[in-house]
Amino acid sequence: MQYATITGWGKCVPPATLTNDDLSTFIETSDEWIKPRTGISQRHISHVNTSELASVAAQRALAAAGIEGSDLDMIILATATPDTLIPNIASTVQANIGASCAAFDINAACSGFLYGLGLGSSQIQSGQCKKVLVIGAERLSFFLDWSRRETAVLFGDGAGAVVLEATDEAIGVLGYELNNDPAGRDILKAGFGTAMDRFEASSLDFYIEFNGQEIFKRAIAGMGKLSTKVIEKCAIDKDDIDWVIPHQANERIIDTLISRMKIPKEKAVVNIANYGNTSAATIPIAICDALEQGKIQPNQTILSCAFGAGFTSAAALIKWGDRVTPINTSDAELPPCDKTGIELVSRAVNHFCNK
Ligand code: ACO
Repeated sequence: MQYATITGWGKCVPPATLTNDDLSTFIETSDEWIKPRTGISQRHISHVNTSELASVAAQRALAAAGIEGSDLDMIILATATPDTLIPNIASTVQANIGASCAAFDINAACSGFLYGLGLGSSQIQSGQCKKVLVIGAERLSFFLDWSRRETAVLFGDGAGAVVLEATDEAIGVLGYELNNDPAGRDILKAGFGTAMDRFEASSLDFYIEFNGQEIFKRAIAGMGKLSTKVIEKCAIDKDDIDWVIPHQANERIIDTLISRMKIPKEKAVVNIANYGNTSAATIPIAICDALEQGKIQPNQTILSCAFGAGFTSAAALIKWGDRVTPINTSDAELPPCDKTGIELVSRAVNHFCNK
């Protein structure tokens, strides 16, 4: 039997940041409100397109795995914020990394990376592919109405990627669960798509809108349910889980989830303070951070779970392999950014806050 193990990982976080204090210069909010309610201190704002963030993360993941783009059999790119809808941006990444293989985008919102990880691992288990690149990349700053404090403070930009490779050893993605509850479709949305009237100026005012308290409850329930399901399916003892890498939407969601699952709080990887919610990019960025910080050790067991618009939910159990350090490092970098976070969002802030 073939298993799919993670052999490479890389992240790309744009350099410009927007702190809670920066936000309080143009909307009525404060660090005192945002930090205790969400855990967020700052978020990164991208000066480049989503595909550029994704390409740099991809090059770093390939180097960490010690392989070339031309070795890949498939590229799966999870995003709800592609720079182009036609063509998909997996093809843009493919061109940038010199790959010759299948490449496509998926949109499962914040659960997108785990959807991609599940699909990619199944391709390997079926023998169809040997090496799959799974990317989560987002430029959510594009979708924000900066006058709406309930959403403006929560999201950020970034990308992360992993390389999955075939192995005979029983390691890697041990199991995964995916679900969608369409009853939640209207609770979290951004009205962008071909339903827009192209000739109405007001149609340009699309933005993320949601019922935060409703999502808060459903996210805990959704991630909890699928986590329990995947733990049972893989017949793993909960005490044998070394790390939980949950989606990062609100630190209080993570705290409640972990406590309801009766898993020690110290086992949760939490990095929301630095990034906010980067949707499909949150989990691969958190995997990279956990490795950089020396948290993930060889052969440890990781539970990852996510919840997002749709309402999608996903959970995966991963047994890490022997290697927790990259084989090579990549010199891929974003072009320099000469603007601050506030400068990057200033046009959108003027548009939305001075209406
Ligand atoms: N700064 C200051 N005050 C604010 C802000 C802000 N940024 N946002 C809301 N408030 C005010 C409200 O206006 C309200 O004021 P009022 O009492 O005078 O009416 C008060 O704070 C309380 O608002 P609530 O909405 O009740 O605040 P809550 O504690 O529920 O926190 C939050 C809101 C942070 C959005 C929370 O509900 C949440 O994190 N929800 C889930 C996360 C989420 O929706 N993510 C979207 C992506 S989906 C996903 O990734 C899972």
